[in-house]
Amino acid sequence: MSSSKIFPRVTAPQLVRCKAEGRRIVGLTAYDAVFAAHEEEAGVDFLLVGDSAGNVIAGHSTTIPMTMEAMLFLTRCVSRGTSRVMIVADMPFGSFQISVEDTVSNAVRFLKEGGAQAVKMEGAGYLLGTIRRLVDVGIPVMGHIGLTPQRVNVFGGFNVQGRTPESANALVEDAKELENAGCFSLVLEKIPLELARQITESVSIPTIGIGSGPHCDGQILVNYDLFGMFEQFKPKFVRHYLEGAQLIREAVSHWVEDVREGKYPTAEESYSQRTVKASSGKVVPPEEE
Ligand code: KIV
Repeated sequence: MSSSKIFPRVTAPQLVRCKAEGRRIVGLTAYDAVFAAHEEEAGVDFLLVGDSAGNVIAGHSTTIPMTMEAMLFLTRCVSRGTSRVMIVADMPFGSFQISVEDTVSNAVRFLKEGGAQAVKMEGAGYLLGTIRRLVDVGIPVMGHIGLTPQRVNVFGGFNVQGRTPESANALVEDAKELENAGCFSLVLEKIPLELARQITESVSIPTIGIGSGPHCDGQILVNYDLFGMFEQFKPKFVRHYLEGAQLIREAVSHWVEDVREGKYPTAEESYSQRTVKASSGKVVPPEEE
């Protein structure tokens, strides 16, 4: 998706138009400047600084411990590494449940200090008033329903949601209410593909699926899953486009071997002493810095 010189990043209205134009939206998570730059270069539309950082970066078993300060740090890293993609910051557990004022002030920090263009919040119902207020003050909101991992303690796990007629109907209603409250898009996580299709057809904002089948208006994955870095657990919707874990282990063990055998570094990979010109007294620039 192209961006303009006046506003160089992909915008929320552009993503909304994708649905009407039948263009599939592509999102991916990112947590640092280097990966974010590669992902942008490869053509994604938006990067989510997900609280999944709690799992893949911080090593927690849930996303619950992630804090505003940790998420702000990661968001700043991702925005410094990119210039075109839209950056969506995930509001961590506890940052949008206390009060509307507290939520607005946390979301404002993501835009002002983090360089994000939008925030994402898990849930519906009690959040509708908060979402209206955020949109009123100028903060685009991405909704997130289905499996919302911050509710793991209520769900009792990370199971598929919306499999009963009652829970499926409730999710369709949630989606419509989130659209009415002003969300510009909706993440649908781990719900049956038929339900994802029904929700996608029921709202005019784009749905972004993760583990919710092919009928959503776009897709998102956790980048570490796409890169095959996580070997302990592979949900059926994850496709490895790289066997990253294996490649990294091979590279590191090759390096370990080279160091142990004295094959790394060579003289060519080392610096020689700088020479000083006697006449001028100036230091000769080294061949490489
Ligand atoms: O935190 C995250 O990475 C997410 C995606 C799974 C949508 O919320």
